[in-house]
Amino acid sequence: MDSRSSSPDLDPVAGITEDLVSLPTYKEAGDASLDFDGLLAQPIQLREDLRTGCGGQTWPAGMVLGKHMLRYHRSKLETARILELGAGGGLVGLAVAAGCDLKAPLILTDQDVMLELMKHNIQLNKLESKASASILNWGETLPDAVVAHKPDVILAGECVYFEPAFPLLMQTLKDLFELNENAVVYFCFKKRRRADMQFVKAAKKAFVVEEIFDEDRPVFQRESLFLFTFRKRATGGTTSSKKSGTAANHADPIQIES
Ligand SMILES: C[S@@+](CC[C@H](N)C(=O)[O-])C[C@H]1O[C@@H](n2cnc3c(N)ncnc32)[C@H](O)[C@@H]1O
Repeated sequence: MDSRSSSPDLDPVAGITEDLVSLPTYKEAGDASLDFDGLLAQPIQLREDLRTGCGGQTWPAGMVLGKHMLRYHRSKLETARILELGAGGGLVGLAVAAGCDLKAPLILTDQDVMLELMKHNIQLNKLESKASASILNWGETLPDAVVAHKPDVILAGECVYFEPAFPLLMQTLKDLFELNENAVVYFCFKKRRRADMQFVKAAKKAFVVEEIFDEDRPVFQRESLFLFTFRKRATGGTTSSKKSGTAANHADPIQIES
């Protein structure tokens, strides 16, 4: 299956088919310094360069997800096996790598056009011992490095933006749950078109989906940003791992496979 051509940039004109929701302004190439509102003692440096794709800049959902992981899950992430999907320049994964004392290096993944930028940003932050970059095209067989990693925490920031790619992303999530039924997916996206909620609808059919607590929710929900966890649905209709917190109370704990 050739998925590489099926997830184009967030095109500011062609993408607006249903809702006239404004898209982020495209930035000039350059290095950004990001400390996630002080959650990182030392900011990460991120090369932003849109020449190879929309992942070459930071996106609002990636910022929300990075902050959420640093604020609520830092210590639990230390023993997790972490994978980032649609990492772009590696915003979320590199924040986690920089801010957590990871026992196992995490894997940033994206399409081949983003590989050099992910590698560049790993080096820029001297995080080679804590992060690597791989190609993972949604809908395709999981790469060997990912299979060997058997991720139990999956990060996906701003991966819902192109309807034809929804089934590909869904297939990859199912494949990851096949690989590790105790995995937890942290999933954050900005709703730009009505169709984006179709992905959530499909996810609710396939997985246990929870909208999770974050103290910034009142702010980011006004900007149509959604933050969820997905877990594998166990036979019998319950989650395969212990049910955790909800948006109404506390940030959910990560269930790490023993
Ligand atoms: C909007 S960017 C988000 C980048 C980053 N996660 C962030 O939050 O700033 C979406 C990313 O998904 C990646 N992507 C889109 N379709 C894909 C596919 N079929 N397989 C793998 N990655 C894909 C793009 O290359 C891009 O880097």
